[in-house]
Amino acid sequence: MIDKKMKDKDIGKKFAKDLKQVQDQYIDYPYPLRNPEDEKTRIILVGNFYLGEINHWVFGGKESFQDNFRILVAGAGTGDAVICYAEQLKNTNAEIVYLDFSKASMAIAQERAKIRGLKNIKWVNDSILNIPNLKLGTFDYINCIGVLHHLESPELGLKILKDSLSTKGGMDLMVYAHYGRTGVYHIQKLMQMVNNGVTSRTEEVKNGWAVMTSLPATNWYNLGSNSPSDHILFGVCPSKCVNSL
Ligand SMILES: C[S@@+](CC[C@H](N)C(=O)[O-])C[C@H]1O[C@@H](n2cnc3c(N)ncnc32)[C@H](O)[C@@H]1O
Repeated sequence: MIDKKMKDKDIGKKFAKDLKQVQDQYIDYPYPLRNPEDEKTRIILVGNFYLGEINHWVFGGKESFQDNFRILVAGAGTGDAVICYAEQLKNTNAEIVYLDFSKASMAIAQERAKIRGLKNIKWVNDSILNIPNLKLGTFDYINCIGVLHHLESPELGLKILKDSLSTKGGMDLMVYAHYGRTGVYHIQKLMQMVNNGVTSRTEEVKNGWAVMTSLPATNWYNLGSNSPSDHILFGVCPSKCVNSL
């Protein structure tokens, strides 16, 4: 946790390293699992990827997206959001910046963009923690979905993103929700027990599947779809904070 009295440079020093186990996992298992070839037949368009929705919630319906609009997708994974923004903005002078510290994830996203012929994406294989040194400029919209909870200090990540916003900018964040993930936390503990002393990730996954497929239907994880949402999605913009599940 950040002590409120800490100065920015001290916060940066204390938490300025990436968690190697997180990075290694997303290098070995890019997320979400995507086959670039699928770009030939479909596009993934969910609510917060849709420019009309962003315009409504962040810009009060007044954004034209025609004036050098800049988007950062921080922790962009295999590229769902980047592809969708780039596709919607391909006939404008907007720029979409992809940022992720997993090179394997970026390679999949790049292949998807190539198949679609998208040229409006800047590719950055780096950490959110390094944004202050990357000279990326400011952004009118930042998407950071399922990422900040992976940082040693989510507050530092949030501060770095906030400092990267233009004066009119807003962002869309998603972090895991404690109660909705109760079943997931049970499974995490179980996995740590069954994989105690195991050093190979392949072996860990094999053991994990063996356990998962033997769980009764009444297990809290399997009941997850009936529980409260396992994530909190919220938008932040200069004039308001919109909370939704
Ligand atoms: C759960 S995935 C979410 C991917 C994407 N945002 C989505 O919603 O499909 C988390 C992603 O964040 C990336 N990530 C985690 N910590 C990061 C950091 N400090 N800097 C850059 N990327 C990070 C991981 O490599 C991974 O691709």
